[in-house]
Amino acid sequence: MMKKFLPLIYAGLVIGLLVLAALTQQPKPAPANVPNFGMTLPANYRDDFSLYLVIDRPDHTVRHVYAAPDVVAAVAAGEEIPYGTQIIIETYDAQADLLGNPLRGSDGHYVAGAMQPNIHMIEKRDDWTVNQLPTPIGVIDWNFGSFDAQSMLPSTENRNDCLTCHDNGAFRRDFVFSRPLLEDFVSEGEVQYLFCRLPGRGNCI
Ligand code: HEC
Repeated sequence: MMKKFLPLIYAGLVIGLLVLAALTQQPKPAPANVPNFGMTLPANYRDDFSLYLVIDRPDHTVRHVYAAPDVVAAVAAGEEIPYGTQIIIETYDAQADLLGNPLRGSDGHYVAGAMQPNIHMIEKRDDWTVNQLPTPIGVIDWNFGSFDAQSMLPSTENRNDCLTCHDNGAFRRDFVFSRPLLEDFVSEGEVQYLFCRLPGRGNCI
């Protein structure tokens, strides 16, 4: 009598186990804390953009600033920076000797070492939504983005600070602090160099 039902019982058990497995399966974790502010770091900017400025500071940092081809073309033509284009800044720790003094290359400039955790980018567009901008003031064309230097995904760094500082210091230069040096790069065709005596993000330009 029982024997007749055994296959059914087995089948029932297997189905039950499959259902249980499906129910208890963990959902794939969404990438934690990846904000969406409508900006994507261009994957090949180190090849596709122009490195136009290197900045050393007494806090032993080295910054590299890159402009998209459209930005360079506009500055060369004496035109306004067009929509849909970007400028990127990276921060490195200067390499140091055993005593902690920064190493210098043959040009006297610091030698870039490990990159700091975030890459910063500004992007000019005329269709930002209020949610994408750091603050809903809605009067600017530039958005500010911070990206994880390892994954290149958006990072959670406070973007309000970017706007406040760039608004204070570079409002008359269309929010681009280094605009005069970008112009020098375009006219001279050489990467510009600046030693800024102020640490952190103090402005020397
Ligand atoms: C306290 C001031 C300050 C803050 C905060 C700040 N910056 Fe800047 N930023 C500067 C200065 C000064 C420069 C000029 C280059 C230099 O001296 O390092 C600059 C340069 C840049 C550049 C190169 C283009 C330019 O304007 O010259 C980009 C891109 C940039 N910053 C993005 C950002 C982003 C994104 C943030 C926020 C995550 C940010 N910055 C926060 C002061 C600031």
